[in-house]
Formats: sequence, C-alpha cells, structure tokens
Amino acid sequence: MLNYNKTLPDGAPGWVVSEDQFSSLALAKCEAVMSLGNGYMGLRSATEESYVGEKRNLFVNGTFNRFDELEVSELPNAADLTKLDIRIDGKRFTLEQGEVKAYSRSLNLRDAELVRTFIWNNGEGKELEFTFRRFVSLDSLHVIGLKMEVKVLRGPVNLSVSSGIDAQVSNSGSQHFHEGEKRIYDKTYLELIQTTTESKVDFAIGASHRLKVDGQLVEVAPAMEIDRRIVAVGYSLRLEEGQSLTFEKVATVYTSRDKEFGDNYSLPAMREVALAALKTAQESGYDALFSSHTAAWAKVWENYGITIESSNPFDLLGVRFAHYHLVVMTPAHDNRMGIGAKGLSGEGYKGHSFWDTEIFILPFYIYSNPEIARSLLEYRYLGLEGARNKAKENGFAGAMYPWEAAWPSDGEVTPVWGAVDIVTGEQTKIWSGFIEQHITSDIAYAVWHYFRSTGDTDFMEKYGYEIIFDTAIFWASRLEWNEALGRYEINEVVGPDEYKEHVDNNAFTNYMAHFNIELAMDYYQELEAQSPELFARYDELLNLKEAHKVWESKLNLIYLPQPNEDLIIPQDDTYLQKEIIDLTPYKDQEKVGSIFNDYNLDQVGNLQVSKQADIMMLFFLLENKFSPEVKRANYQYYEEKTLHDSSLSLSTHSILASDFGDKELAYRLFHRATEIDLGPKVHSSDAGIHSASLGGIWECAVMGFAGVRMLDGKLHLAPKLPEHWDRLSFPLYWQGKRLEVNITPQEISITNVTGGSIQLIVHGKQQEVHESATFANTSTL
Ligand code: BGC
Repeated sequence: MLNYNKTLPDGAPGWVVSEDQFSSLALAKCEAVMSLGNGYMGLRSATEESYVGEKRNLFVNGTFNRFDELEVSELPNAADLTKLDIRIDGKRFTLEQGEVKAYSRSLNLRDAELVRTFIWNNGEGKELEFTFRRFVSLDSLHVIGLKMEVKVLRGPVNLSVSSGIDAQVSNSGSQHFHEGEKRIYDKTYLELIQTTTESKVDFAIGASHRLKVDGQLVEVAPAMEIDRRIVAVGYSLRLEEGQSLTFEKVATVYTSRDKEFGDNYSLPAMREVALAALKTAQESGYDALFSSHTAAWAKVWENYGITIESSNPFDLLGVRFAHYHLVVMTPAHDNRMGIGAKGLSGEGYKGHSFWDTEIFILPFYIYSNPEIARSLLEYRYLGLEGARNKAKENGFAGAMYPWEAAWPSDGEVTPVWGAVDIVTGEQTKIWSGFIEQHITSDIAYAVWHYFRSTGDTDFMEKYGYEIIFDTAIFWASRLEWNEALGRYEINEVVGPDEYKEHVDNNAFTNYMAHFNIELAMDYYQELEAQSPELFARYDELLNLKEAHKVWESKLNLIYLPQPNEDLIIPQDDTYLQKEIIDLTPYKDQEKVGSIFNDYNLDQVGNLQVSKQADIMMLFFLLENKFSPEVKRANYQYYEEKTLHDSSLSLSTHSILASDFGDKELAYRLFHRATEIDLGPKVHSSDAGIHSASLGGIWECAVMGFAGVRMLDGKLHLAPKLPEHWDRLSFPLYWQGKRLEVNITPQEISITNVTGGSIQLIVHGKQQEVHESATFANTSTL
C-alpha cells in the first residue's frame, strides 16, 4: 500500500514514504506514519478535507490533563488547524466524489514536509490540480505552516475555502478544555484560547492566511465566523481556466507550560507573545519559514547521518524513518517531559512514557546525542517525587517508578481498565500500574548505561546517584523472605511478558532488582572512598549507611533463577509447567492480540505463550551474566512461544540473532521490525507509531549489525553485517568524543572527530584510536 521507491525532486532516493492512491481505509495509518512534529508538538497528518474515521490530533508535549477522577492524565488533543472546508461551485470538495488522477501523498523525511498532489475532476466538466503542503517547524518550535495550491485546468470555477481554529475536537470523546476567548484581529489574525479542565494549562492558538492568484498577493475580504469552540474565516473567489490560487496558512501554538514563561506566566502576556509571533510568521510566509525549517533538519541529518549500502534500498529508508520519528517525538527542549509510547502521533497510550524510553530509545540518544539522553534522564529525576509517593502508597521505601508516567509529579497514571474480556464481557483489569515493577530497575540501568558511556559525572552528582540509591532502597524493601527456601523472592508481579500476570520470581525482574542493588552498593563504596561530601549528602538525604547494611544482608540471598538441565531459565516459577499449544494461528496476524479472539487473559496466563521478549531482554541488558549456550537454548525455547504481540519484541530478537552470528535471521527480524509501522498491515499504526520499535530499529543496526555495546565500562564493536549490506556507517559518541564508524564486510574504520585518543575493543581485541584507525572486520576470537 505504501510506496518506498519515490525519490526527492532532486532525485535523491531513500527519503520518501508515499501513498499513491487515496484510500479511506488507510486514513489512520497514514495519519500516524506521516505525522509531523518537532518534539514541542506533534501533528497527526489528517487530510485537509474531512472523512469519516479521521482523527485530527495536535498534541503539545507535557500538557497533561486529567479529564475526571475515573480517567487518568493524558495529553489533550488541542484545537485543529488543518481542516479546510473547500467548495467548488458551491459543492463540498471530497475525493470520494468526482475523478482523481495522479494522486500522491508523501512524507519527505529529509525536509520533514508532507505533500499531497492530485488532479481532480468534479464530474461536471471542471478540472483542478491540487497541491497541499505542510510542516511543523523544527526551527521555530511554535510554528506550523500549511499551503494549498489550486490550478484550474478546466474552468472557470467559483472556489471558496473556510479555514480557522477548531476546538470542537476531543480525545475520543473526553473534552479536556474549557471554552476560552476567541477573537479575530484586523480581519486577519485568528486567536483561540483554551484551558485544560484540571491541570489548568492555557493554550493560545493563532492562525492567519495569505492568498495569491498567479503569484500575486490578493486582498479578499473574509467572511468571519466565531461560534462555540471555533473561530474561522472564509474566502471566496472566481478563478478562470489557467489561473492558480496559492492559499497559505501559518499558525502558532503557545501554552502556559512553555519553559520560556517560567514563574512570571500570565495569560495576557502569553497572548501578546503569541500574537507577535503570529504576525512575524505571517510576514515571513510559508516559503521563508520552510527554508529555516529545512536548514534545521539538515543539521539533524548531518549529526545523525547513517549510511547503509544494501541490495535492498528499503533498509536505509526504514532506518531514516526511525530517525525522523525519534526527532519528531522527543522533547529535546524541556527536561520536564518524556517520550510517549506513540510519540505525538496518536492518542494511543495517552502520551505516557514507559520503559520503552530507557531501554529502547535512550541507547540511540546515548550514542548519537548524549545531551538529549541526559535531558530524558533528568525527566526521571524530576519523577522521583511521584516514585517516592508510589512506594509509600504501596507500603515500600525508596522510589518505585510508575509503570506509565505523564507530568513528573503525577506519579502512576496507568489506566485500570482495558479491552473486553471475551469470557466475561467485562473490561479486563490492567495490572501493570500495580505490579509491573521492573520499570524501576530499568531506569537505574539506563542511568548506569548513560554514565558509563558518557562519563558525565556532573549528571551523576546532581541526579544519577540519587536515582540509583533510592531505587535500590525500594527493591530492598520489596524483597520477600522465603523461610523454607532461605532466599529473597519477588512475588506477584508482571514481567516484561504482559501475558503472564501475578507471577512469582519473574527472572527478568529478579535479576534487574539484583543488578540495581549491586550497582548502588558499588557506587556507595566509590563515593564513600572518593567523594566524602557527596557521600554525606546522600547519607543525610536517604539514610544511606542504614540502607547499605540492608543491601549487604540481602543481595546474595536474592533468588536468581538458574538454567535447568536443558539450559532453560524458567521465565517465572510456573511458566515451564504450563500447557503448550500450537501458536501458528496467532503468529504474525493482521492485528496483534489475535489470541484473545479465542482465550481471555486468564486463560492465556495458563499457557506457555509470551507476548514479547522477556528473558531475551535479560540476555541483551546483562549479557555478561549468561553463557552463549544458555542464550541460544533459551532463544530457541522461548521464541517459539512468543507471539511478538508487542512492538518491543522483534528488535531484541534481531540483536540477539546478530550476537549468535545468525545474520540471515537477524536481518529478517530487522525487516519485520521496520514493517511494524511501514508494513502492509493497514491498522498497525492507527493509534500512533511505535516509539520503542523505532528506537529498536536503530538498535538492530548499531547494536546488532555493528555489535556496539558498553560492557564493563568499555566500548565494544563486533560487526556482523547482513549479507545484503556492503556498508554501514554512523556517528557514535563515546566519553564525550564523536566517532565516525564505517563498516564494510572487510574493514572497520573509525575516525575520532573530537581528537584525543579512545580505547575500544574491536572483535574482542583491545585497540586505541587517535585520529583514525582501520581494523580487519574479522573475529579474532
Ligand atoms: C508492552 C509494554 C510496552 C507498552 C508501551 C505494551 O504492549 O507490553 O512492554 O511498554 O506496550 O509500548
């Protein structure tokens, strides 16, 4: 359905995701996959004219609101700026009527512009050529640009366009906003204020228009409209055959959450700033704004530039697509915000952050843009308040991170009720917010990963140690003593595999808790010996000496499930005793979760069937703790039982397959990962793109095929390029230095752009790189 073979106007391949035929069935998928954004806001790509089933979403990062007590905090859907009511000779324009030729809608990843073109015949002898363009500025985070060009091929026509700011939208029915003031200044500048109902975040949204006929500015007096939750203007004009209209709309979005307003925020002052910005944007016009935007994107591509020479050009496009969306979804401008599991591209998961960020996305930033990695971890530091409250509420000590996070102080925001239970007909209870607890050690792990790869001691001293100590304090209080077996256990949890609820001793959870406490003990010793002042600060804040005594007494008694006689590590205490069924009917289906057509969650809980990578995650994160034989045996055992019903699963499997040297399998799984959003399944991305999977695609290439790893504080490279690839090159940050890595089947060359020297291990052998060095791409082990 989607076409990946289009080139850019200058002939460059591998940058365009396009749709060649309008399909009302694929509306949602294209809206999400082609969504635009700049980390400050995200705009779903609904078409200008309306269709049944469309979702018009504009999200501003961090503006969470709780609609009422029965719902959880979510990112509210702000007023729509994209809808145009277009009439030709008095009749509403729609692609569902008339004849459409030469249709194409494409997302240009390089310039981050959405372009839609087609020729439309109204069935009554009139023919028009339409081109719509749109971008969300990466240069001016508050600005959106839209442009429509209409050329009359067979006319004349009477054309009218109504356009404005439409706050008659909701989040699937939940209305997050109070109605605010609306105004039109000088018949040109439209303004709509809306305020969230509970969090009281003000939004000031502005829009203005400019019309040109045959390239000449024209003044058309607009019909002005203000009504409930809407402000709009309408323009009507007659166009002769051969004439063309250019209709530009620029829009600005500001909110009281914007960092720049700080503590001095007032609504009148924000309105003034917003109006001034709208006037400046209007003066610049679409083209000038767009050119600053493309310059900002050019810098992104320069920084993240990855090259893949593959027999299949789609591979590079798939990785660029991941890069594109990672930039679009990440609030690089503000450390009070995290990354949503669907980015800013849909209502799915309500804009909440999960372990997806720390485990699947953060590695990309650690190795490609460490400053952003730091900002994302600072978000978790700010979340300590909510994490401490959650621990207390649950009767534990320390910091127990929420499974789903929104505004840092919100604490736990996982909804309690989910999809239908096919047996009872009731809603299924979602247990993750209560008992999916591994998120706490995932965050500690991410802090460690960041620190060991960047050497950022400033971060650790301000934020990192505190996270690691307080999460270890949580785990120590969470452990349960089993008198009969003389060990500490962690019972009644959900591990990464969410098809198993209320399990005891999920291996991933136990190992990661152990890791978290051990890490805190290491840092305790380090600080005590080397930084007495810091040590004293944390001792006072967290009663560290007492905590250390507890860690010491418990660490070695934590139960870490071991491989059985077949080398299989039990995923939890009962997994291996459960019934095994043929999962063929449920694997790789059009829609994930097809097993729930036949079983409810309780029944699935009694089968050896997994939603996603679980023990495999352990092999990836704590790879030194397990032998290659154990990893392989478990891979084989569990993969058969894994439905990959979570988008977090395939990339981890691909990386492990690379580690095993199974290049073909690793490549196949990488492809399946790219197809989660870009594949032919028409509803795969309806609720939004899959953030973690996009981070995972980068991980497949860099951590899988290039074998990049941080092990024991050292950088490792052990490339195993897929047979289809002749080259993989990418930037890599290590200890504050930028390296450029270029891998071919024969050679690995590394350029140290920053200067100085770096140590690393290439295919198991210690090496040093000053300016640049080249090594043979063969395993010396
Ligand atoms: C997965 C989780 C993931 C969440 C958000 C769920 O379906 O099971 O592991 O964190 O989606 O992506």
